[in-house]
Amino acid sequence: MQAASPRLPFAVKPTAHPVPEADRLKAFEALGFGTLFSDHMAVIRWSADKGWHSAEITARAPFPIDPAASVLHYAQEIFEGMKAYRTADGRAVLFRPQENARRFNESARRMAMPELPEEDFLAAVEGLVKIDARWIPQGEGSSLYLRPFMFASETFLGVRPSKEYIFCVIASPVGPYFKGGAKPVKIWVSETYTRAAAGGTGAAKCGGNYAASLVAQAEAAAHGCDQVVFLDAAEHRWVEELGGMNVFFVLEDGSIVTPPLSGTILPGITRKSLISLAADEGLTVREEPYSFDRWQADAASGRLKEAFACGTAAVVAGIGAVKFSGGEFRIGDGETGPVTTRLREALVGIQRGQTNDRNGWLHTLSGV
Ligand code: PLP
Ligand code: COI
Repeated sequence: MQAASPRLPFAVKPTAHPVPEADRLKAFEALGFGTLFSDHMAVIRWSADKGWHSAEITARAPFPIDPAASVLHYAQEIFEGMKAYRTADGRAVLFRPQENARRFNESARRMAMPELPEEDFLAAVEGLVKIDARWIPQGEGSSLYLRPFMFASETFLGVRPSKEYIFCVIASPVGPYFKGGAKPVKIWVSETYTRAAAGGTGAAKCGGNYAASLVAQAEAAAHGCDQVVFLDAAEHRWVEELGGMNVFFVLEDGSIVTPPLSGTILPGITRKSLISLAADEGLTVREEPYSFDRWQADAASGRLKEAFACGTAAVVAGIGAVKFSGGEFRIGDGETGPVTTRLREALVGIQRGQTNDRNGWLHTLSGV
């Protein structure tokens, strides 16, 4: 049996220049997404000769980076997205953080990067949330978004896996992801650009996937839409996922369909949680292919009652309308439907510590 590796010791170096409390409170008055950052960051370094080392929680600051650092050329980079919440009874909690630790390593394997032991990933996240606990916003719909990421930092232009990496976690207090708040979103179907093909990196959370999605996302914005939805690369027929969210369809008979984890979409933790919550509510979820043709036909016939997008940043967002090169159609009455609302409330209730967490998804941080 292999001995468990000892946990990395973290050097904790509090910043000498924390953001003044009055400035933080002012910034909290209008939270958007990803523009405001906490005082600290967690950093762990990896090199081929030393493995993981130099773990620290330190003042948030830029990295000095060599122009030949391989991430700048070959994009060897992965990331995660997770949130810390302040519950009504005052606890600081994380939602299913082990799932993020596991998925991070799945992404690392796909991108030929070193795996970070799950306990070190979790210690970095927890250490940052503890030191920056005052940055967890209290209000409904707001949270502390955590962004663990890793990039290739070796100064080398050859094309092979880097021999040095930096793992880092930063924290950003956030409000709603979409500017319209809880209003249903409008999405654009990209019939030209695809996100991922079989054997590619679609199931990994690597920066390159998002770089490749930006032109389609810009096209969506140019058509007045909030997000892009991608079809499969082989046939341009099957609905896959949005630029940063998974997608669900609620049918007339009460059943729910979501595209299967075929290797080309991200295995969302929100997706997985909603499938389980839907089952708890007595709803049937089928993980099966759903075509764009069927989507149009079901919306027209009224068989499709609701559709929604889900992810850590967006939580659960009703899809009110869909636009594509050939026209536009509405889903149901164009408003967020009752099943979407019910599932959203079930999820948010657990995340906020308001309803019974019978699956043990919340991880409470001690001493915060
Ligand atoms: N799909 C993509 C492409 C994403 O970027 C995200 C967000 O992380 C998701 C799906 C949803 O994943 P999760 O629910 O784990 O946040
Ligand atoms: C998330 O939901 O955490 C994401 O990563 C989606 C997007 C902000 C990239």
